[in-house]
Amino acid sequence: MDVFILGIESSCDDTSAAILKNDKVLSNVISSQVIHEKFGGVVPELASRAHQQNIVPVIEQAFRVANIDKKQLQAIAFTQGPGLMGSLLVGVSFAKAFALARNIPLLETDHLQAHILAHFIDEGQEKPAFPFLCLLVSGGHTQLVLVRDHFDMEIMGQTLDDAAGECFDKAAKTMGLPYPGGPVIDQLAKEGNPKAFSFAEPQIPGLDYSFSGLKTSFLYFLRDALKEDPAFIQHHVNDLCASLQHTIVKVLMEKVIVACKQTGITRVAIAGGVSANSALRNELEIVRKELQWKVFLPRLAYSTDNAAMIGIAGYFKYLKKDFASQGSAPFARAKASFQ
Ligand code: KG4
Ligand code: ZN
Repeated sequence: MDVFILGIESSCDDTSAAILKNDKVLSNVISSQVIHEKFGGVVPELASRAHQQNIVPVIEQAFRVANIDKKQLQAIAFTQGPGLMGSLLVGVSFAKAFALARNIPLLETDHLQAHILAHFIDEGQEKPAFPFLCLLVSGGHTQLVLVRDHFDMEIMGQTLDDAAGECFDKAAKTMGLPYPGGPVIDQLAKEGNPKAFSFAEPQIPGLDYSFSGLKTSFLYFLRDALKEDPAFIQHHVNDLCASLQHTIVKVLMEKVIVACKQTGITRVAIAGGVSANSALRNELEIVRKELQWKVFLPRLAYSTDNAAMIGIAGYFKYLKKDFASQGSAPFARAKASFQ
């Protein structure tokens, strides 16, 4: 029998609803909150208010696009965490009320795990076979994950401070570029020289990452350069973006290569908002050819926050009959382990 699942994502600044029929996406509606742009980052209080305003229209549109009736739904999946508490509460409360009203089960999903499981949304593509390594890079998290099964994932390394996406966003803010900075830097970098400037690269043992030193090094570099030339940013913005992006990608890739050597695994996936980055995708392609890896890239629509990934994570939980109770509560911080 076909399973219809509604997925709801509200962990940060995107309100999203998706309807899946088994592992296929019928609709994936995303309302991104533009209000944060002028603040150069997400303002939690404004995010929860915007979710509250957007959630009903977004869900209604998801049903319209999917062209199914609410009565056909078998379950509701929602993001339990990690994320902003006020934002999560909007999605969790809506999901609970809807599940009660329709008398159907609730499915809790971990946002980070869902980013990885987005690779299993069926669009006719080859899915990664287990085990594989996944570089999960988003605005709030940077993790190297060994994926043994849909819900058996081991975090092999992670950032000790800032996330890679945060480094893009903060550097963009320093240059006076809009939020979110990642896509803007990606775009401007296309016209720049990645070797124009060099910034401090972290020296962290093992498979962990650190991006706060790089962020500070970028900040100090600009501060000094602006003393010499107050229009330094305008004159060199493309080179600044290309050089910063080159450094972030280099740092990310170095540990992926080590993790592959350590585990002997050559299937590598990327996930999360930063996996949309064109330089990261190019570099992966180069290394794939060199080291004979099999690489899995999520479609751009499933890289940044979206509810289709919540729907697919929920679908696999549904198959295991792993249902949540009405007492389910959101959590803000990432779990230490996915097992
Ligand atoms: O996964 P996501 O949508 O939200 C979180 O769970 O955090 O990731 C958002 C992050 C932001 O930091 C944004 O700047 C970054 O992903 N991002 C990119 C690109 N597109 C989004 N970073 C670099 N290049 C991109 N093309
Ligand atoms: Zn995310």
